[in-house]
Amino acid sequence: MQLEQLTKLYSTRVDMALDKFLTATAGTSERLQEALQYSLLNGGKRLRPLLVYATGQALGADLTYCDRPAMAVELIHAYSLVHDDLPAMDDDDLRRGRPTCHKAFDEATAILTGDALQTLAFEALADEQQPAALALVKTLAQASGTQGMVAGQMLDLQGEGKLLSLEELQRLHSHKTGALIRAAVRMGALVAGANVDILKTLDAYATALGLAFQVQDDLLDIKGDEATLGKKTGSDALLHKATYPSLLGVEGAEQHAQALVKQACDRLNNLSGEWSSLVELANWSINRNF
Ligand code: IPE
Ligand code: IPE
Ligand code: MG
Ligand code: MG
Ligand code: MG
Repeated sequence: MQLEQLTKLYSTRVDMALDKFLTATAGTSERLQEALQYSLLNGGKRLRPLLVYATGQALGADLTYCDRPAMAVELIHAYSLVHDDLPAMDDDDLRRGRPTCHKAFDEATAILTGDALQTLAFEALADEQQPAALALVKTLAQASGTQGMVAGQMLDLQGEGKLLSLEELQRLHSHKTGALIRAAVRMGALVAGANVDILKTLDAYATALGLAFQVQDDLLDIKGDEATLGKKTGSDALLHKATYPSLLGVEGAEQHAQALVKQACDRLNNLSGEWSSLVELANWSINRNF
């Protein structure tokens, strides 16, 4: 499948599933519901759900059973963005082309929206019909918390104003961004019942892809166009963030991202089957301009 078709098909699919899920889980607070819809059903590239579906598809999974993990990882991602934008963190006021959650609502609502998105992610996975439900919950929980995204966000804040070594920077990025990307690929594979060898190879692919994706995010913060990106540029420099371009220069970071994508795709050669979707997604992750 061409990348464009794939993106359209899977992002529409996960959007519909999320919309239905949010309606089905609506509680008593209208304001919270509004903020959840605002923060979740507002575009976004849906890379993590795409990785769940593309991996599941390549391994012959029933796509119906990829819907819940695809939703779950996007719910965690959306929560991470809402909190990432808060004044206590990156203090950004534009996200996905619109005012950030705390600007459109208020800070307390944004904090609670992140909290609710996080618990909804695990509710989505906890379904009697879901194959590998327990392994999916464990994978997503590990990728989200102390061993993954939240720890990475902590390292990111602690790294402000510091000159990190390449190794430290890699650790930061592989936690804050890489962990959820790895979880997305792993969840697609778990739904398909993949064996340990396949899981390991795909993990190596996703590890390199996760890093490359964040390098490109850092590059776009410098040379991207605000309207196309849907978020403010220049935020990293303003906050003295530790980024690949700040350490390696723009060209050095670009080369590093290319090497990472090659590394990711090379891993797929070790697998039998048709992996062109994951190859295309990896290439797109560093050629994208939004
Ligand atoms: C932005 O993620 C934050 C990072 C982890 C790099 P995305 O670039 O995937 O954001 P959306 O979901 O498309 O808005
Ligand atoms: C955020 O990284 C990673 C998350 C866990 C949300 P950034 O802070 O660079 O993401 P943007 O640039 O605000 O989207
Ligand atoms: Mg941040
Ligand atoms: Mg940010
Ligand atoms: Mg960024």
